[in-house]
Amino acid sequence: MEVVILEGAEQVGRVGADAVAQHVARDPRAVLGLATGSSPLHVYRELGARVARDELSLAGCRAFLLDEYVGLPADHPETYRNVIHRDLVEHVDLDPAAVRGPDGCAADLPGECASYEQAIADAGGVDVQLLGIGATGHIAFNEPGSSLASRTRVKTLTRRTRLDNARFFGGDVDAVPTHCLTQGVATILDARHLVLVALGAAKAEAVHQMVEGPVSALWPASALQLHPHVTVLLDDAAASRLQLADYYRETWSAKPDWQDL
Ligand code: F6R
Repeated sequence: MEVVILEGAEQVGRVGADAVAQHVARDPRAVLGLATGSSPLHVYRELGARVARDELSLAGCRAFLLDEYVGLPADHPETYRNVIHRDLVEHVDLDPAAVRGPDGCAADLPGECASYEQAIADAGGVDVQLLGIGATGHIAFNEPGSSLASRTRVKTLTRRTRLDNARFFGGDVDAVPTHCLTQGVATILDARHLVLVALGAAKAEAVHQMVEGPVSALWPASALQLHPHVTVLLDDAAASRLQLADYYRETWSAKPDWQDL
């Protein structure tokens, strides 16, 4: 894992966008994995700015979402499909038809999960996957106790995650769906490069467990320790419980210019 501790969210956005741009420069048809929520917003803003300045084009890319709520109607503003369109797709040149997420209203949810796995495989797998992390240590919606070998499936959200996400539902936790479809931990680990963003003190314990704790289903993000290419982008507050923070800072400041993320 390359752990990068930066001063603030703007810098995190720039380095996250660099990671995506690096893949697109290598392959303009790169397959992107997209997260929703607050964490990747600065990355998305920076990608939008680079596309507007003609420094980057995502026109040849395809994209897959990590997860979706079960049961929200298609026109609900908080479906992850609608959120990603608002937060990213409308501000870049991605073809909206090339962005796919699992359908949380499918009549056959297990069948939808299986066909979503197949669609990712048919696209050749994800080249660069953006991730956030929950305070519970979840990645996508793989809540504590998730199998580290899990694939896309239906999960029950924890009360903590529903409380955290109530801010998107007018503060009403009861309006937050109880279930979701989520890529599994093993699905995520299949992506070739994982770029995880965490901002703020509320994520500090989860970040510590992910990077420095034992690999455990109790902190599903700790499975990232088993992946050969992970970039963890943190602000100072999210990094505040890391035991090896000084070493990570030294490593980043000594990184040669020619070395990719
Ligand atoms: C969203 C997702 C979640 C979030 C996580 C952090 O697609 O998969 O894992 O990344 O809950 O959410 P924020 O960034 O809103 O703190």
